[in-house]
Amino acid sequence: MAKTTSSANSPKVLEPTLFVGIEIRGVNHFVGELRCAQSTQDFVASFQYAPSYLSLAQSGHAFALDPINLPLRTDPYKTTGRHSILGVLFDAAPDAWGRTVMALDEGVSSVSLTEARVLLKGKGAGVGAIFFTTQPFESGFALPVYPTSRLDQVPELYEIVRRIENGLTLDMHSRALLKSSWDIGGARPKAVVQDVDGAQWIAKFPRGIDTFSRQRVEWANLQMAKEIGVQVPAAQLIELDGDDCALLVRRFDRTVQPGHNQVLGRQHYISAASLISPPADFDKYKMDTAFGASYFSYARIADVVRRLSTHAASDLTELYARMVLNVLVHNTDDHLKNTGFLLDASSQSYGLRLAPLFDVVTQEGGSLHMLHLGPGANKTRSYQSGRLGSLDNVLSGAKSCAIKSAAASAIIERVQSVFERRLEFYQQAKMQQQDIDSVEACVMQRG
Ligand SMILES: Nc1ncnc2c1ncn2[C@@H]1O[C@H](COP(=O)(O)OP(=O)(O)OP(=O)(O)O)[C@@H](O)[C@H]1O
Ligand SMILES: [Mg+2]
Repeated sequence: MAKTTSSANSPKVLEPTLFVGIEIRGVNHFVGELRCAQSTQDFVASFQYAPSYLSLAQSGHAFALDPINLPLRTDPYKTTGRHSILGVLFDAAPDAWGRTVMALDEGVSSVSLTEARVLLKGKGAGVGAIFFTTQPFESGFALPVYPTSRLDQVPELYEIVRRIENGLTLDMHSRALLKSSWDIGGARPKAVVQDVDGAQWIAKFPRGIDTFSRQRVEWANLQMAKEIGVQVPAAQLIELDGDDCALLVRRFDRTVQPGHNQVLGRQHYISAASLISPPADFDKYKMDTAFGASYFSYARIADVVRRLSTHAASDLTELYARMVLNVLVHNTDDHLKNTGFLLDASSQSYGLRLAPLFDVVTQEGGSLHMLHLGPGANKTRSYQSGRLGSLDNVLSGAKSCAIKSAAASAIIERVQSVFERRLEFYQQAKMQQQDIDSVEACVMQRG
């Protein structure tokens, strides 16, 4: 039972200790303990590696969950924000969508769900290999297996999503169907489903307020990225009622063991947001300052790639190509949680690699990106211009992404040549002319 304590600000709810686990090469290990205390105004959490995990790492069978912010040590780590220091633990938790579904299941408002409750309600199905329990456990512990919805249930899942959007109640069957889906992150409606071979897919659904089919555009953008040579997950469109469709992207953090379908291996994942770890009290009004750009920029992601990637040169080239593509397709929503890193399974030293591309959706509105693309500020320009989606800006950002200017020009040319053929991809995605016109209007917004 959670206890309440008073502070000068507001009462804090002291949550029970959470036991953190991780799957490494098919075996679940106990990593350490997480404690959260939360009030409506503030949040404090601490994490400490278990001595058994530190010994495992010393013998080369485990690794730091986050090599930058959580190097292996006996002392505890503390944070006052979800994306700061301990972000890798919260990457495994849902964002707005999963919290909405969890809250519906509990019959409470999503703001009243504490972080600890959200982590414990998860079923080890969030992104990556980290999971949480209420009881301590030993290496080799088997996580309870929960049924995952099937791929052929996507139309039924969409009906449930629509009920949620329309504020309608859900019956027991619908609630049970969504249970395997609520761990995954992101704000938009989605579900996790499993195909007949045991592979898992994330199904992304339309919302009533969408002005064009984001699913078809995301599929088309992913195909363009693939043609450019960027790593993308397998993706497919499933036609639903009317002109609606769901986009299914295959999970890159789950593997089906050959010959044992349904046995899924989990791969460790960490978002760029967690690795970069902006201060918990970062004020968004400082976004367009040198301080803001030092956290929220492609240059900073490139710095992480240089430090941690087992294939830094090719990951840097790929990151730069993604930046160019995001500018051309007007995906301004390129925030730090939309880039991630996966454990490189082939690396003996447990290095990381850029995870495949996801959430590459053409956006309406102005051309300011969530991240700084180029240096922006000089005598006549402000820092804000560093976020302007223009090819000039992208070119001027090459150096800070460790790309030489000749290589940058070649990458831009390659991406542009595929982007010029976008109509082919829109047609393959069966986009209606009205949607193509709306998307064209967005890409023309470029600075
Ligand atoms: N192919 C994939 N394999 C594994 N995990 C993925 C994959 N695609 C996305 N994810 C995880 O799911 C989360 C949500 O996905 P995505 O960003 O596509 O959803 P969204 O709701 O559109 O996000 P946003 O809130 O940024 O709009 C990502 O932050 C990432 O952690
Ligand atoms: Mg996203």
